[in-house]
Amino acid sequence: MRRTEALRRMVAETTLTTDDLIAPLFVSETLAEPRGIPSLPGVVQHTQDSVRAQVERLAGLGIPAVILFGLPAAKDPTGSEAANPDGVVQVALSNLRSDMGDDIVLIADLCVDEYTSHGHCGIVTPGGAVDNDATLELYADIALAQANAGADICAPSGMMDGQVLAIRDALDSEDHTDVAIMAYAAKYASSFYGPFRDAVDVTIADGGDRKGYQQDYRNAREAVEEINFDISEGADLVMVKPALAYLDIVAAARAVTNVPVAAYHVSGEYAMVKAAAANGWIDGDAAMFEILTSIKRAGADLILTYFAADVAEALR
Ligand code: PBG
Repeated sequence: MRRTEALRRMVAETTLTTDDLIAPLFVSETLAEPRGIPSLPGVVQHTQDSVRAQVERLAGLGIPAVILFGLPAAKDPTGSEAANPDGVVQVALSNLRSDMGDDIVLIADLCVDEYTSHGHCGIVTPGGAVDNDATLELYADIALAQANAGADICAPSGMMDGQVLAIRDALDSEDHTDVAIMAYAAKYASSFYGPFRDAVDVTIADGGDRKGYQQDYRNAREAVEEINFDISEGADLVMVKPALAYLDIVAAARAVTNVPVAAYHVSGEYAMVKAAAANGWIDGDAAMFEILTSIKRAGADLILTYFAADVAEALR
């Protein structure tokens, strides 16, 4: 049954399609021209104009959704720009909504790390810890700003306990009952986020890390707890992040829930393929399809990936 391509295609269990893809996009408040990100070849920090053009291109390729990250002009200890109605992501959302109508799903990453002067995902106490419950109030405000600007889905990525419930309550209290929540439910403190932090100009103060709120990669059962909590708080979709070193977690997520499961093939995972391919050590396109198909085979319905446009082009 493996002898010809047609036979193999006939019995293939898993098929990667353009409909599975969510493209991450970075939008800057200060750039006059799009700027490349050296550690993420092929990915740029967009201007408001260039992100509009890119989303039109992605929609034309058949990609169903994008997720937006913002680079604000100014950062402060509470990341207040994240909830500014005129903040960089809110402006992008309202432009994209008016350009695209309902032709593409607009997802807003919901966190403050790109907006805080210390680079943490929440309010930091004088002792240096992140204050979980104080941070929930910020997230509620951000959710409202994003929903008011036209987000279809808010995607809380800060790993605070109770964040999904806080956001759901805030959205419902202001008539945004239809705005969905894609929870970064099982998100690990990972070395694979390096290029992303270049992309959003984030450095965690004092050589810090996120191990106090993101998961420990030695733990798998704990991910199931996180996923169940988020679903009980109102998550409409759950995400596992990163993807490739966490395929067991993707499979576990698939086994415990019937809500859609997303997996984030993160910046470092993408950069490794690009770097090896640039050296001629692997076939980059073949590796891209093999990795993304493996993520789907493990149980993901959706994949957030910097390869989204490349895959869609190749599948055309
Ligand atoms: C936090 C956030 C991060 C990523 C997405 N959302 C970074 C972090 O947790 O430090 C990483 C995505 C990637 O590496 O591609 N708002």
